[in-house]
Amino acid sequence: MSFTLLVRKFLAALMPDRLVYVLSEEASHKRCRYQKRLLRSHGDDLYLANNVSLISPGEITFGNHCAVNEFVHILAGGGVTIGNGVWIANHASIITITHPKDVEFVGHHPAITEPVVIEDNVWIGSHAIILPGVKLGKSCVVGAGAVVTKNVPPYAIVTGIPASVQSYKLRGGELPYRQVDGQHG
Ligand SMILES: CC(C)(COP(=O)(O)OP(=O)(O)OC[C@H]1O[C@@H](n2cnc3c(N)ncnc32)[C@H](O)[C@@H]1OP(=O)(O)O)[C@@H](O)C(=O)NCCC(=O)NCCS
Repeated sequence: MSFTLLVRKFLAALMPDRLVYVLSEEASHKRCRYQKRLLRSHGDDLYLANNVSLISPGEITFGNHCAVNEFVHILAGGGVTIGNGVWIANHASIITITHPKDVEFVGHHPAITEPVVIEDNVWIGSHAIILPGVKLGKSCVVGAGAVVTKNVPPYAIVTGIPASVQSYKLRGGELPYRQVDGQHG
């Protein structure tokens, strides 16, 4: 062990736990502010929690009033467009890169990228996975743990693996969306 490392370990051991916690929280806030600057663009009031991991942040666009909670992972090489009022719960993943299947070793072949589009007011539940090429229609809900392989219609509530429509949200607290405009009967 190098002398510097030894000194660091010694100093860390002297630091009260509370101070370590406060400093790491502050470091996390700074990281969050820094990540925001790397995005392609974002609107007002974007909340990025601590420990969010954005790979290729320059390919991500956020609208206004979005919230991204702890441990969300966005692999954005293929492009991610997120509208207004989108809430992404902890540990959800948005993936825009895949690999060819019928090859001996994926590392020898270029990756395949497909964009993900998330329309306004979508809520993505905890641990959900959104796969490449998927579009989440406006105001839909993705249930906790769902794996979304196909486009989701507006106002749908999808759950499961692969995700399928469980029901539709009430719009304005009155009628189901499909009864209001007949699109999803
Ligand atoms: C998708 C969701 C919104 C559905 O809510 P709901 O309509 O009130 O669901 P219900 O509790 O009435 O359940 C309806 C059915 O769907 C099933 N179900 C509910 N959520 C499910 C999920 N995430 N995955 C699979 N099945 C689910 C229920 O078991 C029930 O099945 P049954 O009819 O066979 O008994 C909710 O369950 C969910 O996943 N919320 C996300 C919570 C979250 O991630 N919070 C993070 C903080 S933002």
